[in-house]
Amino acid sequence: MDKSLRTPVIAGNWKMNLTPAAAKALIEEVKPLVADAGCGVVFCVPYVDIAAAAEAAAGSNIKIGAQNVHWESKGAYTGEISAEMLQAVGAEYAVIGHSERRQFFGETDVTVNLRVKAALAAGLKVILCNGELLEQRQQGITMEVVRYQTKINLAGVSASALANVIIAYEPVWAIGTGLTATPEQANEVCKGIRQLLAELYDADTAAKAVIQYGGSMNAANAADLLAQYDIDGGLIGGASLKAKDFAAIVAAASA
Ligand code: 13P
Repeated sequence: MDKSLRTPVIAGNWKMNLTPAAAKALIEEVKPLVADAGCGVVFCVPYVDIAAAAEAAAGSNIKIGAQNVHWESKGAYTGEISAEMLQAVGAEYAVIGHSERRQFFGETDVTVNLRVKAALAAGLKVILCNGELLEQRQQGITMEVVRYQTKINLAGVSASALANVIIAYEPVWAIGTGLTATPEQANEVCKGIRQLLAELYDADTAAKAVIQYGGSMNAANAADLLAQYDIDGGLIGGASLKAKDFAAIVAAASA
C-alpha cells in the first residue's frame, strides 16, 4: 500500500462555537494562510454559520461542512436538517457519528448508518467518526469497538460511495482533554480500520481510503501524528478555532 495514493484532509470541527460574523472573520483570516495547502481543508461549522462560511470561503481551497445531517429529505423532524438543505446553503461535507452526538444526544450506530447513507445519496461527502471510550481502551477492546462501529455505520455503503467517506478515528478520551493518542497508538487503530475496509471492500478501496486522527491534535503534535503511515489528516476541534494553529496543522499535512 502506498500513502501517496491518498491526499490528506485537515478538517476543523468548530462544534458549538462562533456566530456567522465570527465565522466569516476566522475564514478570512485562515484563507491566505492555507492558500498553498497540499492537503484538503474543510471547516465543519454550526448550521447557522454555513451560509456565511461558504460565502467567505468562495473561490478559495477551503470547503465547508455541517456537523450532522438527518436521513430524511424533509418532514416532521423538529430540529433536524436535511442534506438538501445543507447543500442549498453551501455545505459539501457533513460530520456524522461524532462521539459528542453519541454521548450527549443518543446517537446510535444504526442512526449514524442512516445518516451516512442519506448524505452520500444526496451527494455530500461524509466525515464518519468512531472511537473508543477510556474504559474500553483499558479493557483492551479498542479495535473490537472501532470495528463494530465502523461495520454498522458503513452497512449498505458501496465501494464506489466509500470514495466520498473520510473515516475519523477519535478516541473519546483524547477529545478536548489535551490527552493525545501517541502517534503509534493512533496509527495502530487507523491501520486496523484500513484492514477492516480491505475485508469489507477490497485492498484497492482500503489503500485509497482517507483515515483521519482526531483528539487534541494541535500545532505542536500534528507533524508526528501525520507522519504515520495510516493517518491521512486530522479532525481538529479546539485548535481549529485559532487561525495560526489551524494553519500550522495544514502546513504539517502538506509537508
Ligand atoms: P479537540 O481537538 O478539541 O480534542 O476535538 C477533537 C474533535 O472532537 C474533533 O471532532
